[in-house]
Amino acid sequence: MEFPLRQGMLVAHTAAMTSPRFVQVYREDSAGLRHELAQGLLGRPATVSPKFLYDALGSRLFDAITELPEYYPTRTERAIFEAHAPAIGALAGRGRTLIDLGAGNCEKAARLFDVLAPLRYVAVDISVDYLRQALASLQRQHPAIEMIGVGADFSASLTLPPEAGRGERLLFYPGSSIGNFTPQDALQFLRQARALGGAGGALLIGIDLIKPKPVLELAYDDPLRVTAAFNLNLLRRLNALLGCDARIEDFEHVALFNEAESRIEMHLQARRALTLRWPGGERPLAAGERIHTENSYKYSVAGFEQLLRDAGFARTAHWTDERGWFAVFLAS
Ligand SMILES: C[S@@+](CC[C@H](N)C(=O)[O-])C[C@H]1O[C@@H](n2cnc3c(N)ncnc32)[C@H](O)[C@@H]1O
Repeated sequence: MEFPLRQGMLVAHTAAMTSPRFVQVYREDSAGLRHELAQGLLGRPATVSPKFLYDALGSRLFDAITELPEYYPTRTERAIFEAHAPAIGALAGRGRTLIDLGAGNCEKAARLFDVLAPLRYVAVDISVDYLRQALASLQRQHPAIEMIGVGADFSASLTLPPEAGRGERLLFYPGSSIGNFTPQDALQFLRQARALGGAGGALLIGIDLIKPKPVLELAYDDPLRVTAAFNLNLLRRLNALLGCDARIEDFEHVALFNEAESRIEMHLQARRALTLRWPGGERPLAAGERIHTENSYKYSVAGFEQLLRDAGFARTAHWTDERGWFAVFLAS
């Protein structure tokens, strides 16, 4: 009697470790999303949240951007992690639940598995299909780590389903994704991250630093036009989610550094006067009028340290590259 039971348990255990659990909170077919998109388009100026840049194609285009010579953030952040892995590992602690916010292809977290030895890996992303694929492949490479995928939109509120488990948490938010929030919303997000980490929790976060304007603008407007494709993909998303009639050829990608606000802005600029139409609404655009699609705020080390303190993090450490282009902070 005992043998078949043991065998069954073994099979169940192995199955859990070869395919991650997935919890889908975010659904693309909601009336709430359509309302959010329509309200943004009707604004002055018209805006669309950068979270809509990411569907399966958008995520692949972002991955391609990270390969471009002009896009320094990914490789600079990677070099910082590689150079300071022992120190980061010693401060961040081993055996925690690693929560990857906006995990994308999960590659950055996976590179830290050796040094962090996470007990559990929770990958959260709005690009649900892409995350499912990336996580399934990662689980096959690391069958000993429990993995949970969470398809969620954390822009309004940062919460996790119970499946994410408890225990000591290390929140991971790389790639300077926090730059998509205004500093005020970033403060709010950091406060929520601190609460989500709980007692003994920590946050490992990557921040793009202020640097000369030409370097910044080239990173967001590469000659191969991959970033342009990434931005223009948003029009396909508007058509799919809202039933809009946008034509890609009617728009061009614009990226500029707004020094007063310390942010890169991405826009879609109308090449001619046109009207966007969708069920229940329309938005005329003059020739040259723009839809604002992304902000990417750039910080100084001192400025971001202050933001962490304002959010209630008592202890912080940070590491930068030789040029001072990017910083990784550990806050607890
Ligand atoms: C700039 S990419 C960074 C990807 C990866 N973490 C990296 O550092 O290379 C931002 C990631 O966050 C995800 N994302 C953007 N907005 C989100 C939101 N509101 N909720 C959840 N995920 C979001 C995107 O799908 C994308 O994978």
